[in-house]
Amino acid sequence: MVRSTGPEKIRCAVFISGTGSNLNSLIQFSKKKNSSISIELIISDNSKAIGLKYGRIFKISKKVFNYKNKILAEKNIISKIENKKIKLICLAGFMKILSKDFIKNFKGKILNIHPSLLPKYKGLNTHKRVLLNNEKYSGCTVHTVNSKLDSGRIILQKKVKVSKNDTPKSLAKKILIQEHKLYPKAIKKVFNL
Ligand code: GRF
Repeated sequence: MVRSTGPEKIRCAVFISGTGSNLNSLIQFSKKKNSSISIELIISDNSKAIGLKYGRIFKISKKVFNYKNKILAEKNIISKIENKKIKLICLAGFMKILSKDFIKNFKGKILNIHPSLLPKYKGLNTHKRVLLNNEKYSGCTVHTVNSKLDSGRIILQKKVKVSKNDTPKSLAKKILIQEHKLYPKAIKKVFNL
């Protein structure tokens, strides 16, 4: 007897450089009953990325690419992604900038999460800059990736209140909690799930 495995899931790769808490939240999302996505691949530029442990824990294939030669690294990543039939790339704390050619290859299929209310505070040290400017609110954004840094189409945002005694660390922590909810929601929105 041939058993139906149900509708095909959207095969995702998650790119990380560090802790991987967003990766973990995406894995949890993919493991929910009736989830339409599956995390098939974890990619990192950093062999010491703590988040690589989730590959081990959840038996997801993981691969580290040496970025000393970016052109070669991207070439190898592309072949790995094609080989695994990946349909969605989720950047989650990936600290390398993808080349225009790479982005063209996967046009509209790369998402990123950024810890600010874009278009404000693109780039690094967002929380520090938000506090220096005495902003009342900050937050996080999921957007598609285009060739300009943190500038693709905004899919979803979540506002977070900045309190008087927030430090960059406390603000990052508050926002990260929202990031973990926002990324799955954004994926659902993109794919009409
Ligand atoms: C998150 O704040 C994300 O918005 C930013 O990098 C951080 C990654 O955190 N792009 P983690 O590795 O998912 O814990």
